[in-house]
Amino acid sequence: MIYQRLLSFCAITLLIVMLPNWSMAADAVNGKSLFLEKCASCHNINMVSDMTGPALQTAQENWAEYPGAIYEWIRNSEGLAASGNPRAIQMVEWSPSAMTAFENLKDAQIDDILEFVKEKSSAKASGATGTTEDTKITKSESESSPWLGYSLVAVLLLAIALLGRYINSLTRLSQQQAGAVVTAEKSILGVLLGPSVVKLLIFVAVLFGGYTTVNNAIDMGRQQDYAPEQPINFSHKIHSGDNGIDCQYCHDGARRSKHSVIPASNTCINCHANIQKGSKDGTKELIKVYAASGFNPLSNSYLPEDMSGEERANVYKKWLRKTYNKEWKENETTVNKMIDEQLASIKGTYSKPIEWVRVHNLPDHVYFNHAQHVTVGKVKCETCHGEVAEMDVVKQHSPLSMGWCINCHRQTEVQFKDGLNEGKNSPYDGKKNKANAYYTDYKYYEQYHKELDDKKRKGVTVEEIGGLECQKCHY
Ligand code: HEC
Ligand code: HEC
Ligand code: HEC
Ligand code: HEC
Ligand code: HEC
Ligand code: HEC
Repeated sequence: MIYQRLLSFCAITLLIVMLPNWSMAADAVNGKSLFLEKCASCHNINMVSDMTGPALQTAQENWAEYPGAIYEWIRNSEGLAASGNPRAIQMVEWSPSAMTAFENLKDAQIDDILEFVKEKSSAKASGATGTTEDTKITKSESESSPWLGYSLVAVLLLAIALLGRYINSLTRLSQQQAGAVVTAEKSILGVLLGPSVVKLLIFVAVLFGGYTTVNNAIDMGRQQDYAPEQPINFSHKIHSGDNGIDCQYCHDGARRSKHSVIPASNTCINCHANIQKGSKDGTKELIKVYAASGFNPLSNSYLPEDMSGEERANVYKKWLRKTYNKEWKENETTVNKMIDEQLASIKGTYSKPIEWVRVHNLPDHVYFNHAQHVTVGKVKCETCHGEVAEMDVVKQHSPLSMGWCINCHRQTEVQFKDGLNEGKNSPYDGKKNKANAYYTDYKYYEQYHKELDDKKRKGVTVEEIGGLECQKCHY
């Protein structure tokens, strides 16, 4: 009886002590994902250095004079400047590049972002001056000192033990007064090792073990900014940025299937049959593409499948000798050495698929479909993958967390009707302000169409067509 009360007392105390912690952290955590999703492309996440947009460390102070205006600013900076707000006018002069309008951000979401900005800025102010380790975001920063939690638990446990002992003494006292036979009092150690306390300890351990395990499990596999070294120095910047090659030329799966698909090396040969030397790496990387595809750059044809490794090496040696003939005449030894190095780098890779290291990887229990987003949803690649065309090495731009998917589904309107979602703020690919046939002839959506026609709503979000239902994303 007493222990039951004691237990519920402890449970409630635990909750009261821990709750504010958890919920407070949640705000900044949500703010962080919003920031990464919407702001990090222009505002440095270290909050102290400028990027396309200014460092946000002092932003909140800068706006303190104009209560509430920072919300308007974030939702529509140009609008606020047009209305004559002095800070806004001052800011717009800051740079030729203007800030995107985020009309759909709610006050609470902006609060979360600002909370994250504040947390991040104060961490920077008290810590080392953050200069370069800016964009690297690791999970460690969200682990707001676990020791705080542990020491709280320790203090609580001590309190429980003492309280238990106190109650025990009281009971004994009243028993004595009533003249009952009283067993010898247990020592502190006896109480601490007593079955109830041990049970309680196990309970608490399981609770916290579970909490941390789940937390770690959540972080596992999430590797924002992950940019592994690839077997071939393939640059999206050179291909899509400098040479304007369309993403779907290589990733044609994105349009029509679940997966975007990494192109097979034969796709590379379409162009590299002719482009045999890069302006940066020369033949150093391209030779790997040829070896993997079994391609003979000398004769512009594929090598016979049964050709031995040695014979293949000879073909590539001849090609390199020819390619670097001019340099060879000037400095034989250096060129020979370079040729040997390049031949060594392809040894054993003949006619084997290139082993690209996977960058993005959702857990197996999640269902994600590219075609649904790219073809049906008309979401731009860059909305999820960042400015890939500017990356020499691809990195994971988005957190790929459940919150990330859900946030976008809450905020993004589907192409429900002609003319919706136009403008530069749209995550869509620009030309697509046509309604999706998917929704126009669907009886199920009659209500939404009616409300749209009656101007009772401005759009229909992914959430409203069921994009938050667990089974849509989970097997
Ligand atoms: C496309 C780039 C871009 C994005 C995305 C962006 N900003 Fe900005 N931001 C700017 C630029 C540029 C300025 C400087 C003012 C101007 O020229 O519009 C600015 C200014 C600001 C300021 C004013 C700073 C000060 O010191 O007064 C705040 C606050 C701000 N941004 C917050 C945000 C938040 C929050 C987000 C995400 C929801 C965001 N920005 C997303 C480019 C961007
Ligand atoms: C010339 C072919 C080519 C073009 C064009 C191209 N890619 Fe790629 N992409 C690749 C190859 C090869 C890889 C695997 C190597 C790597 O990760 O760098 C890759 C990898 C990726 C990845 C990482 C895949 C993973 O492992 O998770 C993303 C994301 C991506 N590309 C997006 C894009 C986007 C967006 C564009 C358009 C701006 C684009 N690609 C244009 C060939 C191409
Ligand atoms: C649509 C044409 C096209 C396709 C397809 C293509 N490339 Fe390229 N690639 C280019 C162009 C253009 C260059 C720039 C050549 C230069 O540096 O002048 C280039 C350069 C390169 C370079 C050399 C970079 C340097 O400067 O040294 C490498 C390596 C390369 N590509 C690998 C690949 C791989 C791997 C694939 C297949 C996944 C591929 N390319 C597919 C057009 C293409
Ligand atoms: C709505 C967000 C979103 C959009 C839009 C999007 N991707 Fe992805 N992409 C993802 C996610 C999430 C993954 C990880 C999928 C997985 O692990 O199963 C991924 C994975 C990839 C991969 C790795 C191979 C694969 O399919 O798993 C490539 C390549 C890729 N995307 C390219 C593109 C290209 C190119 C576009 C535009 C045509 C594009 N993506 C548009 C979210 C997106
Ligand atoms: C940038 C915004 C964005 C992100 C991020 C995003 N989605 Fe979506 N998603 C959309 C849009 C837009 C649609 C609606 C497509 C359409 O018109 O049916 C959609 C639709 C879907 C649907 C179909 C829903 C339905 O009711 O038919 C699934 C499933 C889905 N997304 C899964 C995911 C998963 C899983 C992730 C995270 C890994 C994710 N999405 C991230 C924008 C996004
Ligand atoms: C829009 C897509 C989407 C919807 C809807 C969705 N999830 Fe998830 N869920 C994800 C993604 C993506 C992950 C993987 C997150 C990661 O790896 O960090 C995930 C992970 C999880 C996990 C594992 C823990 C974790 O965070 O990794 C659980 C449990 C889960 N979801 C439960 C649910 C439940 C219950 C619902 C319905 C209320 C739901 N999900 C709806 C996309 C979704």
